[in-house]
Amino acid sequence: MQNKVYTVAIIGVGARGGNAYGKLINKCPEKYKITHLCDMREDRLEIFGEMFSVPVENRYTDEGEFFKKKRADIILIATPDTEHIKHCLKAFELGYDVLCEKPLTDKAGECEALLEAQKKYGNKVLVCHVLRYAPAYLKVAEIIDSGAIGRLVAINWTEPVGYWHQAHSYVRGNWRNTEISAPMILAKSCHDLDLIQFYAKSRCKSVSSIGDLTFFKPENAPEGSADRCQNCKLKDSCPYSAYRIYIERWRDAGCPKTEWPYNVLATEPVTEDKIISAIESGPYGRCVFRCDNNVVDHQTVQMLFENGITATLHMNAFNLHGGRRVAMFGTYGEIFLDEKTITLSVFGKPTETIKVDVPTDEADYAHGGGDARLISGLYDMMEGNLSMETSLEASVESHLIGIKAEESRLSGGKTLLVH
Ligand SMILES: NC(=O)c1ccc[n+]([C@@H]2O[C@H](COP(=O)([O-])OP(=O)(O)OC[C@H]3O[C@@H](n4cnc5c(N)ncnc54)[C@H](O)[C@@H]3O)[C@@H](O)[C@H]2O)c1
Repeated sequence: MQNKVYTVAIIGVGARGGNAYGKLINKCPEKYKITHLCDMREDRLEIFGEMFSVPVENRYTDEGEFFKKKRADIILIATPDTEHIKHCLKAFELGYDVLCEKPLTDKAGECEALLEAQKKYGNKVLVCHVLRYAPAYLKVAEIIDSGAIGRLVAINWTEPVGYWHQAHSYVRGNWRNTEISAPMILAKSCHDLDLIQFYAKSRCKSVSSIGDLTFFKPENAPEGSADRCQNCKLKDSCPYSAYRIYIERWRDAGCPKTEWPYNVLATEPVTEDKIISAIESGPYGRCVFRCDNNVVDHQTVQMLFENGITATLHMNAFNLHGGRRVAMFGTYGEIFLDEKTITLSVFGKPTETIKVDVPTDEADYAHGGGDARLISGLYDMMEGNLSMETSLEASVESHLIGIKAEESRLSGGKTLLVH
């Protein structure tokens, strides 16, 4: 018997909707067919419309027109953070099954509205917490479930963002300001909160948080620096210089034609001339000390779960490499995860090192293979074969932790009940 091929409509065909998931979906013609696209940007509609063979009459610049009726079995919502709630509610009402980018919203009331709407219209929903599908994180879950470390008692989670990633996304880029995006703890760390809750296997009872925007502010601008990197005499020495982040690093990487973050500045195929033009005319050439950013560059969250597990999450910008370093402490052993390497120490036994490799065709799509497996998981969900690991309900639960953490941070670190 032949597989069912599900039709897919995508709203927001940018880095995630087009380059990441769009390309992955398009690689599986035996499972999916992309039939409709909606994006305010005509250039993107044209590039991805051609790439995914979507007829011109099925490409929409106007979301009102696109949402006049249900266009496909599945909708992928990959618009900016502030749009998700509106697009999700509309999609539920039209009867779509939904793959939605995170964060869903930064408001507790809107989380409730999403759950209610899903209940009313009966949609299948997966939220893009891609790390839940990444082999290394699943392996950690498997070890905990095996009982090897006894009862899990405490989690210590560090999220180094990486100095250039912070500058790119959270100082100069789309996630720099809560007015146009979401607080850092949701925009960046909602994956981490989701995983912590997944490992804790319990609802979070209370939360407190401290953190601040310390460095990327005008008072820290070095003497003699300028508003834009092209006019700055420190452009060859400052590590945050756009020329160093986008040209030097791009050359060091072998001048890739299709790689993030360079393809955010320049259309593919990326060239040096296109990057320079973007630096000299667009937002990514602004001095990091003189942007309209307000999101934190370091934050710590403390959590107490209803089953007694305690967890801390610490994110900060000031590190060479991004990724995650995770420690799980159990009554009979401990687990350390550093990207793809897991160290398991069962008390009284030799320490074991477990290397988790991701097939190269999956690794190409980042998040430790999570992007590719999420797209496979979407098919399983449609076929009714998945326990919906990143279901709306689970995602709302971790969003509520983030929402309360931000409330706590803004109130000076007060401990708050999550429910
Ligand atoms: N799951 C992850 O790990 C992960 C990683 C990065 C980003 N994200 C999230 O994915 C989402 C998209 O991020 P991105 O990097 O692709 O951004 P992007 O800016 O590259 O793409 C967003 C696209 O949406 C379009 N758009 C904006 N408003 C629209 C509207 N009302 N109707 C139609 N199109 C509209 C824009 O023109 C743009 O092409 C964000 O919410 C972001 O936080 C998730």
